[in-house]
Amino acid sequence: VSLKLYVGFFLLYMLSLEQSLANNSSSFPSNFFFGTSSSAYQYEGAYLANGKGLNNWDVYSHKPGNLIVDGSNADIAVDHYHRYLEDIDLMHSLGVNSYRFSISWARILPKGRFGEINEAGIKFYNNLIDGLLLKGLFAFLESLFLSFLHIDICFKSFGDRVKYWVTFNEPSFQVKFGFQAGTFPPSRCSKPFGNCTYGDSEKEPFITAHNIILAHIAAVHIYRTKYQATQGGSIGIVLHCFWYEPISNSVADKLAAERAQSFSINWYVPFTILFFIFYTNEAVVYELETVLQKLNKGLDFIGINHYTSYYVQDCMFSACEPGPGTSKMEGYFAQSSQKNGTRIGEPTELVGRNVYPQGMEKIVTYLKDRYHNVPMIITENGYGDMNKPNSTTESLLHDVERIKYLAGYLDALSTAIRKGADVRGYFVWSLLDNFEWNSGYTIRFGLHHVDYETLRRTPKSSATWYRNLISQHIAKD
Ligand code: NOJ
Repeated sequence: VSLKLYVGFFLLYMLSLEQSLANNSSSFPSNFFFGTSSSAYQYEGAYLANGKGLNNWDVYSHKPGNLIVDGSNADIAVDHYHRYLEDIDLMHSLGVNSYRFSISWARILPKGRFGEINEAGIKFYNNLIDGLLLKGLFAFLESLFLSFLHIDICFKSFGDRVKYWVTFNEPSFQVKFGFQAGTFPPSRCSKPFGNCTYGDSEKEPFITAHNIILAHIAAVHIYRTKYQATQGGSIGIVLHCFWYEPISNSVADKLAAERAQSFSINWYVPFTILFFIFYTNEAVVYELETVLQKLNKGLDFIGINHYTSYYVQDCMFSACEPGPGTSKMEGYFAQSSQKNGTRIGEPTELVGRNVYPQGMEKIVTYLKDRYHNVPMIITENGYGDMNKPNSTTESLLHDVERIKYLAGYLDALSTAIRKGADVRGYFVWSLLDNFEWNSGYTIRFGLHHVDYETLRRTPKSSATWYRNLISQHIAKD
């Protein structure tokens, strides 16, 4: 009896929580995009199906000694490749009006850039896009750049139906993990980070960042000159944006927070050539300047992936230990979630993922002020649960903490919008639990639980909550 009572109270509590959080004061513009985000490697599986070749994560995840904590890979992942129709139905029942996903180049060009196009790969994405449109969902398509030879493939094949394009996802992390810490493929690392076996130049991450920006600019240039007028879409880049709060009011700490923000964001916004002046040569600066002038801004919108915030302490002028990932070149600072007994936000089970909803308002306002209120889209925001050995499906399904997190961040976002920020959409990471890179399947971000034995999808409480929130906002329009 007492168990039944307990379950009854728990369900009532969940219901009232969903109601109260859905009735919060947040409001969003009409035509706002509400969606969920995914990525090809983390979702698709089907790793050699229908002519697909290998991508760098396929190779990395099969290499002995890699740094994936549970020894897993995404050969199957959540099998989105075969179950995309079921997944579109899940989106439809959430009431979202958009879906952000990426393409796997290994599906489209299995033999690399000099090989033939694999029509089966094109067909898969065509089917996915058509399936979305049939249910009234907009497609936001990502990871456009492979080489000059192939950039047109996506615009040509999908541009009649895709109106939102993204060139790169989180270049700062590709650079940091792939070329500085060596924890992502191609596993290059630069001293003094990581256990370098090769790639030990401190400059390599900066050269990589530079090449990413050039590639972004080339893609935008091609879209603008050849497709935009007829297809009428927009093109942008997605940045991982932490909010960096100075740990004290000292000028040095405030400057350090600005440096931290600049190295993680401003470097990658092709509005500015800020740091290239210091780290590359004159010729490159000139090249970028001319291209940017021609382009009249290198993007139509900034995609923001925002999850958490950090304190920043100066280590340039004060004695302190610069944190991992910050070098002299990055202007020496230490970032942390806690310092001298002060904590930024509420800690979660995941290290470095404190909940600080105000960070959402602050980062959006920062970008608005710095980049003339360029249109912004929150391309990712979400909450991860540790999949502990004693986690039960029941406990994972009743994800109260995720609801609180999403409600808080959405509320802060709506405040920023009310104060004038031009934010056009919000995407939860993620529709489904999925493969979380070096953490494998040990962390779950989904609004839907995935049983990795059967691949069955089950809505969590947060899915119901998100559906209520969206229906209230869409109903208000
Ligand atoms: C950002 C990345 O784009 C995505 O791949 C990742 O799974 C989420 N953040 C959650 O960490």
